[in-house]
Amino acid sequence: MAASHRANATIPLPLIVAPLVAVLLLFSSAATTAADGGVDSAGGDMTHLHFFFHENFSAGPNGTTAAVSPPARGDGSSFGSVGVVDDMLKEGADPSSRLIGRVQGLTAGASLSNGAVTTMLNMVFTDGPYKGSTLAVFGRAVLGTVIERPVIGGTGAFRMARGYTLSKMVNSTDPNLLILEYNVYLSH
Ligand SMILES: *[C@@H]1O[C@H](CO)[C@@H](O)[C@H](O)[C@H]1NC(C)=O
Ligand SMILES: *[C@@H]1O[C@H](CO)[C@@H](O)[C@H](O)[C@H]1NC(C)=O
Ligand SMILES: *[C@@H]1O[C@H](CO)[C@@H](O)[C@H](O)[C@H]1NC(C)=O
Repeated sequence: MAASHRANATIPLPLIVAPLVAVLLLFSSAATTAADGGVDSAGGDMTHLHFFFHENFSAGPNGTTAAVSPPARGDGSSFGSVGVVDDMLKEGADPSSRLIGRVQGLTAGASLSNGAVTTMLNMVFTDGPYKGSTLAVFGRAVLGTVIERPVIGGTGAFRMARGYTLSKMVNSTDPNLLILEYNVYLSH
């Protein structure tokens, strides 16, 4: 079982698996009672999560970011910047939609040549079927692309998790709000 989980996680599954499991496993209100596992076409247990990340980067009291160090160079690149975030995970893209967790961690501008950011994030689920569980996501982010990052572990329902996240920006009407749509594919 463990070996097949590992094998499955290396296959680029979203196109195959998403249509099969998305309906059952969305964090949508209708699916909150769904079990935490789906069966993919290869027969292994895969879990698909779908939610939205909201980052309020205003400096006000409801902002969710802290700049620790500014960019190191005066050339407009983010290289050398370090930040801490306590961002929100919500069911939908609407700022008023249900809060299901937080994303707590560090970001570092780590590319001399473009805007790539190295991110070290803990996704902490506070509501919904995975309340009390966490996912550790580590990887490289370039805004404006479909960002793929490895899931390197988890706790609670996500102990021993392996997988990946795919996220992309969605339009926001609030200039202080960065919203990313997340699809997460896991074996655990
Ligand atoms: C911050 O959020 C709280 C709770 O939603 C709200 O009552 C308050 O007005 C907000 N503050 C600002 C400055 O937007
Ligand atoms: C973002 O934070 C600012 C400052 O606290 C607040 O005025 C604004 O309402 C927040 N936006 C959202 C969508 O929470
Ligand atoms: C996002 O906004 C841009 C600029 O207003 C627009 O061209 C684009 O179609 C929008 N995308 C979506 C998915 O709404």
